[in-house]
Amino acid sequence: MADKIYAGNFKLNKYPDEMPDYFNQFFTKVMALNADQKKDLLKNHFMFFPSTTNLHVTSVSLFENIIKHSIPRSPFSWGAQNIAAEMGGAFTGEISSVGILLMGGDLALIGHSERRSLFGETNEAIHKKIKLASMLGMISLLCIGETLQQREAGKTFDVLKEQLDAALKGFDKPAELVVAYEPVWAIGTGKVATSAQVEEVHACLRKYLDQAQLNTVKILYGGSVKPDNSKELIRIKNVDGFLIGGACLDPQSYLDICLSEVR
Ligand code: PGA
Repeated sequence: MADKIYAGNFKLNKYPDEMPDYFNQFFTKVMALNADQKKDLLKNHFMFFPSTTNLHVTSVSLFENIIKHSIPRSPFSWGAQNIAAEMGGAFTGEISSVGILLMGGDLALIGHSERRSLFGETNEAIHKKIKLASMLGMISLLCIGETLQQREAGKTFDVLKEQLDAALKGFDKPAELVVAYEPVWAIGTGKVATSAQVEEVHACLRKYLDQAQLNTVKILYGGSVKPDNSKELIRIKNVDGFLIGGACLDPQSYLDICLSEVR
């Protein structure tokens, strides 16, 4: 897989008519970089998680720009912020993973803390979703993270281990998995974990994944990543990229984050 991963989680933001403009702006800015910057930038991987109703327009806009600017397609992928644990049936309101594939997406964000805390998503459901995504050849971006209360009680590593154990039971397809460490207290709050905290957790996650024979799985950091802190965060050992919420909504700030290592 490519060098670093820069994943944008749009959450429930932007309407379909805003997406083409977003990608047109993003690619115009990429094309305005000098040749060396562009080459270095495109060694990375860019993942987009628009809201489900924006997935089709995302697919179309990305392809249009890739073709228009003769940029290789391989650094770009996109998908859904959630999928149903079941392939189909009487599950009103759920999101079909096959439907995502048919709309051109091949990623599934799974276990985001907002899904866990606001919609009661359990570790068991998360495990089923990862299994289904893998069966369909989709890449799962599994989110894990502790709450402030759990961190203050010294339970960070127990919580992360429990989330990983449950989600990855019997999982043996490293090429179909990316893990994002997102401390819940850092999401959308402007509070970023310190470099020491990130380094400590990522080292621990690396060890866990190595022991589980998942040593090629990349580990992203997420939680209030912005252009002004991304340069420091990307230098931390075992940080293989970011999952970006608020700051991905503006194509310039998303690109600035993607350029953290390039400039
Ligand atoms: P944030 O969101 O960057 O706005 O903190 C990150 C996320 O929820 O994935």
